[in-house]
Amino acid sequence: MQQENEITFVNIGNLWIKRGLNIVGPAFLSIKNGKIRSFGCMDEPRPRGRTVDLEGRAVIPGLVECHTHLVFGGNRADEFGQRAGGVTYEDIARQGGGIMATVAATRGAAEEDLFESGMQRLDRFMSVGVTTIEVKSGYGLDFETEMKMLRVIRQLNDAHPLDVRATLLAHIPDGPERGVMVNEIARKWIPEVVKQGLATQFDVFCDDIAFDARESMLLLRAAKDAGLGLRVHAEQLSHTGISGQAARIGALSADHLDHAEEDDLTAMADFGTIAVLLPGCGISMGILDLPRIEQFREKGILVALSTDYNPGSSVTTNLPLMGSLAVAYMGFSYEDAMAGVTEYPADALGLDDAGTLETGKKADFVVQDTADWRDIFYEYATPHVRRVYKSGEVIYEACGSGHGRSG
Ligand code: NIG
Ligand code: FE
Repeated sequence: MQQENEITFVNIGNLWIKRGLNIVGPAFLSIKNGKIRSFGCMDEPRPRGRTVDLEGRAVIPGLVECHTHLVFGGNRADEFGQRAGGVTYEDIARQGGGIMATVAATRGAAEEDLFESGMQRLDRFMSVGVTTIEVKSGYGLDFETEMKMLRVIRQLNDAHPLDVRATLLAHIPDGPERGVMVNEIARKWIPEVVKQGLATQFDVFCDDIAFDARESMLLLRAAKDAGLGLRVHAEQLSHTGISGQAARIGALSADHLDHAEEDDLTAMADFGTIAVLLPGCGISMGILDLPRIEQFREKGILVALSTDYNPGSSVTTNLPLMGSLAVAYMGFSYEDAMAGVTEYPADALGLDDAGTLETGKKADFVVQDTADWRDIFYEYATPHVRRVYKSGEVIYEACGSGHGRSG
């Protein structure tokens, strides 16, 4: 029985264990009871027993997607077309569209429908090699709908093979008295979410069209006191300085950062806050003026990449494509891009058992269809996944004419 849980994958073309440890094949990877047991070159000693011959294909860690708004009702295809005509994201928001349009559709959606569409979207992430994913609430703006979204996220985690990590997002103020909402989030939403174990992290959108820096800090402090990990939508449409302020109270990541300034980055570097960059927004917004990695590298800030998948500002589930954009437009090396979709997003989620293939970690990995791991970025927007493993089990297999969830 024990024997059955041990498998050694042999003849791996290229084996990315973690940043700085990329084994040029032929290599092997041995797993036991759903965890990584050992790895090395084919001419080194390896465990006996069952083997699977990968015939020169590359193996990389399961990708980690650390920032999505995957549960939502309706769609906003019209807005994408409107932006082509010169209308901005902020214009649409001020006219009551944008996030508010999705809020209306999400409030009106049945829990079962949100669950079903969520399952399909998770399948899409799985098919590009994602094994761990974060999903935010934030399209309720009222207690009932936020709880409904978080319950759906919990059901998705229970039903889908991916690890789904939930975040309570304070998205934008709603109602005549924004102070009332801020108080309610701090005094009611956060405690209830913690009591029911519905989320492990808290996020706030701080911007001109969202919460201001004072409100955001009040919420972040309440979430910190309640024991949630802190994330922040920061410096996306304008500069508020929230990334530096949030870093100083221990935020795990600051995300977007298109308008970040020197002081913000200094604070992030001092407190070890991860930068999460979201180049998909450049496509959906029609503005490919993307932040470059050099400013973060100089400070020693680790940079993760994410799709920010949502129905408005970034409508894609293709996480490897974010790596391609990062290499093409943002000064990333291939290594920066691979670490940016594996180990650094795991750090942003506060996870120490995802994002690398070190001994003892979960055997979450992807067998690619080619020998060179760089192909997932180089030959962009193209499927490269042969098979996805989660804790040592096959959860997805791309087979010739058809794809599907397996097992
Ligand atoms: O991360 N910035 C705020 N929230 C999302 C967009 C949500 C939406 O447009 O529906 C984001 O870009
Ligand atoms: Fe977002």
